[in-house]
Amino acid sequence: MKYGRTYNFSAGPATMPEPVLEEIRDEMMNYRGSGMCVMEMSHRSKVFQQIIDEAEADLRELMNIPDNYKVLFIQGGATLQFAMIPMNLMKNGKAVYIETGAWSKKAIAEAKKYGEVIVAASSKDKNYSYIPDCSDLDIPEDTDYVYICENETIHGVTWPKLPNTKGHILVSDQSSMFLSKPCNVADYGMIYGGVQKNIGPAGLAIVIIREDLIREDLDPKTPIYMSYKTHADAGSMYNTPNCWAIYVCGKVFKYLK
Ligand SMILES: Cc1ncc(COP(=O)(O)O)c(C=O)c1O
Repeated sequence: MKYGRTYNFSAGPATMPEPVLEEIRDEMMNYRGSGMCVMEMSHRSKVFQQIIDEAEADLRELMNIPDNYKVLFIQGGATLQFAMIPMNLMKNGKAVYIETGAWSKKAIAEAKKYGEVIVAASSKDKNYSYIPDCSDLDIPEDTDYVYICENETIHGVTWPKLPNTKGHILVSDQSSMFLSKPCNVADYGMIYGGVQKNIGPAGLAIVIIREDLIREDLDPKTPIYMSYKTHADAGSMYNTPNCWAIYVCGKVFKYLK
């Protein structure tokens, strides 16, 4: 082993590809002649704009993301999305959640603050050890979306087949499976994940959302920062983004390509 590194099977932040770490090391003191580390540079600089643009373009290529989907880089990890999803997508105030483990449970608890949450299927009876049959769910017509955690990191269950949403929008937490297998983005209204399991440093979430789901008519008390429109309109730079994490994610996308 070149660096005497630990085999890290932790469910938290995961191993990064060594060539990526080496590249970052080489660019640490002077990123491509800019005279700065990416940590030090303005997010409004041309150099950083190129970093974020390339990261998005490479992710779009890797996942074959259709043009009518936005890619957003949002701070707050996956956990902030537990609140942003109901705040933005609950138009009728109603959503169906499938309870398959610790992470969908947390998302359910948060969504209940914003509207009616229908838990249409659950595997709680067997300590979240399986994915319930979701081929014929009872989904009210005015349901805004169906929510799943596609890979339950703690309970260790993954969906072999997506649920039948009966034409409703599917929202999926892909935090611990992001980019691990082919994914047909058009099957979803929104895919998101905290990046620290499969892509980069913690604290950043990547949100892939169909454009028509980005609304303006949110509850006026919704914090500006919690609106997807804010991030979409500002190219993920409404405030100072997590430039370092975006830079590292971009490197991993290039490595995967
Ligand atoms: C499936 C899943 N969803 C959400 C989270 C929460 O992510 P974060 O720590 O980025 O808020 C995690 C793990 O931390 C997770 O494994």
